[in-house]
Amino acid sequence: MPAYAVIGAQWGDEGKGKIIDFLAERATVVARYSGGNNAGHTVMNEHGTFKFHLIPSGVCWPNTANVIGNGVVVDPNVLIEEIEDIEARGLDASTIVVSDRAHIVMPYHVQLDQLQEARRGDSAIGTTGRGIGPAYLDKVDRSGIRIGELLDTEDLTLRLPEIIERKNEILTKIYGADPIDIEVIFAQVREWAPKLSPHIRAAEDIVAQALENGENIILEGAQGALLDMDHGTYPYVTSSNPTVGGALTGLGLGPRAFGGVAGVYKAYCTRVGSGPFPTEIFGEDADVFRNAGPVGEFGATTGRPRRIGWFDGVAGRYSARVNGFDSMIITRLDILDGRESVKVCVAYELDGQRIEKFPIDAVLLERCKPIYEEVPGWTETTAGLSDPNLLPAGARNYVEFLEKLLNVPASLISTGPERHQTIVWRPIIPEA
Ligand code: IMP
Repeated sequence: MPAYAVIGAQWGDEGKGKIIDFLAERATVVARYSGGNNAGHTVMNEHGTFKFHLIPSGVCWPNTANVIGNGVVVDPNVLIEEIEDIEARGLDASTIVVSDRAHIVMPYHVQLDQLQEARRGDSAIGTTGRGIGPAYLDKVDRSGIRIGELLDTEDLTLRLPEIIERKNEILTKIYGADPIDIEVIFAQVREWAPKLSPHIRAAEDIVAQALENGENIILEGAQGALLDMDHGTYPYVTSSNPTVGGALTGLGLGPRAFGGVAGVYKAYCTRVGSGPFPTEIFGEDADVFRNAGPVGEFGATTGRPRRIGWFDGVAGRYSARVNGFDSMIITRLDILDGRESVKVCVAYELDGQRIEKFPIDAVLLERCKPIYEEVPGWTETTAGLSDPNLLPAGARNYVEFLEKLLNVPASLISTGPERHQTIVWRPIIPEA
């Protein structure tokens, strides 16, 4: 009854979508457990190029159920648009199931996210502006609206006026913004309900049943461990738990469901938004990474240029610890092709002392200086490789260096954005 979690091990954008599309061939269910349409998972295969924000990345396989779990927050407009898009491109959207307990990102959440960020000025988090934080805030406040409520809009229309009244107080009195017109919200709800109703169900039951049947399930992480609300670089984090614990609560799973927990690490690091980033590089050095490969380093959701840095072994070890990774998936290895050497951060210097433990406090982390080791590079190209025997010695050496640094064995190595550009170093899902 194994569930295999695929979790971002850095600050998100590690290339999880591609990996999940690759692994989903052998799974009957792919399930998202946290975040919302702040995520942007790029999938490239024989059906084309897709950027999924909410739809799980297993949707290109015909026999895979795609579950959006209770831990996800769902903007119905985005989900409807994605469903219509994949249908127009010939994929089967009936495989998409949304938990009735997933919370809705309402239009006022989006508005509040953007107003709050503007108010924060220089200390802005750099959110994606998709209303994610305010939606989770309402969930915790017990004033959120769950997707299941779209199945009975009469009840919802009774509940909405009080909620809107509170939101309007905040909008007008705190932010000096225009109040929301409740009729506009009612109209949205009436539009969402018939379009989403066929997909709304107790999605956790589908996951539980698949596990009971002994089928393979992929748990699709969004964002990354270092953006985790509890374990990330707070306050520069997202408002959910991308780490492995989020997969349990976000889908109603027990710990014995797991067959494996794989951490997805880019061969270097990126970050979007504000917050400490010890190995960050700037200028032309960063631009080389940003513009390399068929898909550059620009946010899949917002298009913002990503911040770039060398691989951070201190943060990487921390991430492996808080998630209990039993394997690491290395992505974008090909971007390092043609370098004489590659820098890897093996420790930090803090106040003149060498430290190897990740200081999770954002203020302390900001003061950490990376201590690098130069690992020999390789002149050959790895782009598109799928045969492990063809990996050049320098690239193999780099993979082994990271394995040792993190004390986690590599499982998959990604050498390009397309599904088949993947090296199976060690299989994640054992042969049946
Ligand atoms: P929010 O999730 O939109 O509230 O943004 C909070 C922080 O998480 C910001 O720094 C965002 O840039 C970052 N973030 C959110 N989603 C992603 C993602 O999918 N990839 C990378 N960064 C993300």
